[in-house]
Amino acid sequence: MLPVVSRASGVYVYDEEGRAYLDGCSGAINVNLGHGVPEITQRMHEQIDQVNFVYRTQFRSRPLMELAERLADLAPGGLNHVEFANSGSEGIEMALRLVTLLHSRRHNPHKCVVLTEEPSYHGMTAGALGASGHPLRRSGLQSLLGNQVTVARVRPTHGALRAGVEEWQEAIDRVGANRLAAVIVEPVGGAASGAVPCDREVLRFLRSAADEQRFVLVADEVMSGMGRTGRWFGCDHADIAPDVMVLGKGISAGYAAMSAVLVSDEIADALGRNIGSLVFGHTMAGAPLAAAASLAVTEYLVQHDLAERAATAGKHLSGLLETVCRRHRLVKDVRGLGLQQALGLHGDPERFPGISLDLTEAARAEGLLLYPAGCTPITESVLVAPPLTSTDEELTELVRRLDRALTLLAQPVPEPVAR
Ligand SMILES: Cc1ncc(COP(=O)(O)O)c(C=O)c1O
Repeated sequence: MLPVVSRASGVYVYDEEGRAYLDGCSGAINVNLGHGVPEITQRMHEQIDQVNFVYRTQFRSRPLMELAERLADLAPGGLNHVEFANSGSEGIEMALRLVTLLHSRRHNPHKCVVLTEEPSYHGMTAGALGASGHPLRRSGLQSLLGNQVTVARVRPTHGALRAGVEEWQEAIDRVGANRLAAVIVEPVGGAASGAVPCDREVLRFLRSAADEQRFVLVADEVMSGMGRTGRWFGCDHADIAPDVMVLGKGISAGYAAMSAVLVSDEIADALGRNIGSLVFGHTMAGAPLAAAASLAVTEYLVQHDLAERAATAGKHLSGLLETVCRRHRLVKDVRGLGLQQALGLHGDPERFPGISLDLTEAARAEGLLLYPAGCTPITESVLVAPPLTSTDEELTELVRRLDRALTLLAQPVPEPVAR
């Protein structure tokens, strides 16, 4: 049974029994500043005292307007129009509506196929899960998902974990420019692939293919955005700007429910800059409290240069992980970028998911939180993604606990004693 939480501070979460758990996966890879940062909670208290909620069609609010400006400044060129929702999944749904409306406005309604990767994960709402290449989470839901989005898939070949340029080219040709509406891509994979980065050349290829064939390039940066991978956005590693960028998780770092969809000037112009009333909704979207929390988080990330810190801490962490993992046969590889890393595990096709859940459980017993990932036996993995504020000592302690958990798991299970 899961422990009952009592409080959390920095990289530690405490249960009611007084046990401390080192948060090696930032909750769901979202608590990017660690827990209980006074600079954030203080701003939230101040906002609650002023105004907690207004509806987005009745008022604008200062924190939301400022947040939109900060995000547009940080984002790669031309993504100047920002809309808000409450979760990554909702952000992806918005991107899907936006793409559909755009092609309809441009009198290309037959451009309706969304091309995504397997493995990929874009969220649990019907459209977002429909777009996801995650057989495990889709399992049993085909009749619901089949009606949501017309999807084509690109898959890796030759035992690779993500598709290369050749596979993408083939998939784009297969769909055809007259039908291809959008490509959605995770610049660094998360729950589905287990932190496998998309090849830089693939991102550059997709950028130029989108320009040539007039499809929308959507970057799902829900996990990889806001400094997590050592750059502000995963796309920055390839020096490209997508047409639409979806942010979530780290934008509010767990302090409130918030996501954002950044849209290029070109698309905003094509939709008449009235996007908000066209495709966006949700009662709580962009409410002042979540806006104040997210603005405070964004300012904190900038002031403390945490994207840069994720890059250096990431190198340190991967070095520690490599050393420890060489000693454990369960581990296939260490992968990822910045502080979005994973241990690839030798998954068992007969028992999937298996080893990732066992390791997560063993780690919890050692006082370490990890996030099980992978959507097939070959992608089975655990995400190791501590807060961007983690010190070197905390990273060392994380890997020490992980080492103990792996050792625990490798112990043969004792045979029951015959009576
Ligand atoms: C890449 C990616 N996209 C979308 C989502 C969905 O976000 P949420 O859980 O906030 O709906 C996630 C969540 O894990 C994610 O990692």
